[in-house]
Amino acid sequence: MSDTVTVTIDGAQVKGRAGQTILQAAEAAGIYIPRLCAHNELSAHGSCRVCTVLVNGRPQAACTQPVADGMIIENNTEKLTNMRKAIVEMLFVEGNHFCMSCEKSGNCELQALAYRFGIAAPRYPYLFPKRDIDFSHPDIYIDRNRCVLCGRCVRASRETDKKVVFEFTGRGAHRRLGIDAAADLADTDAAVADKSVEVCPVGALMRKRVGYAVPVGQRKYDHKPIGSDIEAKRA
Ligand code: SF4
Ligand code: FES
Repeated sequence: MSDTVTVTIDGAQVKGRAGQTILQAAEAAGIYIPRLCAHNELSAHGSCRVCTVLVNGRPQAACTQPVADGMIIENNTEKLTNMRKAIVEMLFVEGNHFCMSCEKSGNCELQALAYRFGIAAPRYPYLFPKRDIDFSHPDIYIDRNRCVLCGRCVRASRETDKKVVFEFTGRGAHRRLGIDAAADLADTDAAVADKSVEVCPVGALMRKRVGYAVPVGQRKYDHKPIGSDIEAKRA
């Protein structure tokens, strides 16, 4: 039995492999589906919903939904872009993201999504929550003001680093990134070379002493929008 499946994404026929997610099949075909919690080297989490597409008219997370033959998928539509914009705007107002003074600016996926979607200012009121910073570790730090709870660090710590440094605690508005230690990050076995530090999409989990090593203007998203590397693969 063939393991090739054919789906339609925004009217274009796309061939995928059985077992691939919609996100993976689209990406292989040069179609960018916006995402935030998904990362190519980690298991899917399905929590941010930025990758929501319509599958045969129903909303599905493209990063967790496997492709199936004959699926009709809508991705790049005004309605979905507006929904994704709303999610990104909500993430901006429920944290404290001051891009102008953030070391991740230009390399930040949240900021890059906002630019891609043309968000100038969120339409929702800022909540300005009180969040703490853990600067105890000699080489890395957590600034929870910027954490979008994507879970990448949690998964990378377990799946790649083979550690259990990070975990989520609390529920709803009180959900926060916790650590596997009674006190601070310095009390864990987190290390500067850990994958968990590399995969943070925003400026929440950061390395010390490398600030501005790459000048603003030469960073990943300074010249091309997020997703353009995927779109460049399209035949
Ligand atoms: S610290 Fe970064 S990688 Fe970890 S949950 Fe927060 S935003 Fe995601
Ligand atoms: S990227 Fe799919 S739910 Fe976050």
